[in-house]
Amino acid sequence: MSAGPTGMDEQTTQSPMEQKLRRVVGKITQLPALPDNVLKITRIIDNPHSTAEAVGREIAKDQALSAQVLKLVNSGFYGFSNPISSIPHATVLLGFNVMRSLVISTSAAGLISKSFPGLYEHSLACARTSYMLSRSLGLEEPEELSAIGLLHDIGKVVLTQYLKDECQAVFSLVSKENIGFYEAEQKVMGVTHVDIGRWLLEKWHLPPQSVEPIAMHHQFDPESEYRNRAAIVHLADLLVRAEGFGSGGDNRMPPVNHQALRFLDIGPGDLKMLMDEMVDQLYDIPRGQ
Ligand SMILES: [Fe+2]
Ligand SMILES: [Fe+2]
Repeated sequence: MSAGPTGMDEQTTQSPMEQKLRRVVGKITQLPALPDNVLKITRIIDNPHSTAEAVGREIAKDQALSAQVLKLVNSGFYGFSNPISSIPHATVLLGFNVMRSLVISTSAAGLISKSFPGLYEHSLACARTSYMLSRSLGLEEPEELSAIGLLHDIGKVVLTQYLKDECQAVFSLVSKENIGFYEAEQKVMGVTHVDIGRWLLEKWHLPPQSVEPIAMHHQFDPESEYRNRAAIVHLADLLVRAEGFGSGGDNRMPPVNHQALRFLDIGPGDLKMLMDEMVDQLYDIPRGQ
């Protein structure tokens, strides 16, 4: 810390919270980068002059990535009656946005599974539920919503891996005061996994239609351009927590945002039906971790 203009150490003039925040943000500058090949793929996808063949060719250069993406494409999730065997073909069928989401989700999945126990299962459950909800509620691009659902708690991954002291303090407060993870983050750091997730995904050059819903999944903003996506991710998170798929790092349900539910025009009867459908579809994901 450098001396301030008065000659006094600046640290002494900062509140403890400000010092903490600066420390967190300082560490955040070391956020993990996407692998070079994934960055190159996303750059090609973002170029309006790129063709599906060019995107497909770039993905296909990485055999492990192509295999994982094709596995997802053929998982039954996308409803293709015949298996898709080539990445360029998948790109033509699914479009650039979905391919970007698939490539980033595939890379992020490994990172998420290295976080605390149950977060990967929670994220996967949220991905599938976001997809199911967007289809049931007639929203466009359910595939993108699925990727957003997978990434919605990516800030918690960063916290576990890059902010170990703060993460430890958050977990201690969660159990000591029996509060939610989000509330404990606010008390410990003044920022939450939502802010950290936004910083990371912006660094990864994800478009606002993916970043905003993630940044809003605990604080719904009815004025936001992406409010329908944010409402879906918020609801998916709640349903998954209510049924105990995986773990969000605490034993408390996140508060329900009634505005988001009203926005989706979901009544109590619909909620029960959607919940039953979700439980059916998530049969292979463990509960109560
Ligand atoms: Fe969250
Ligand atoms: Fe979550």
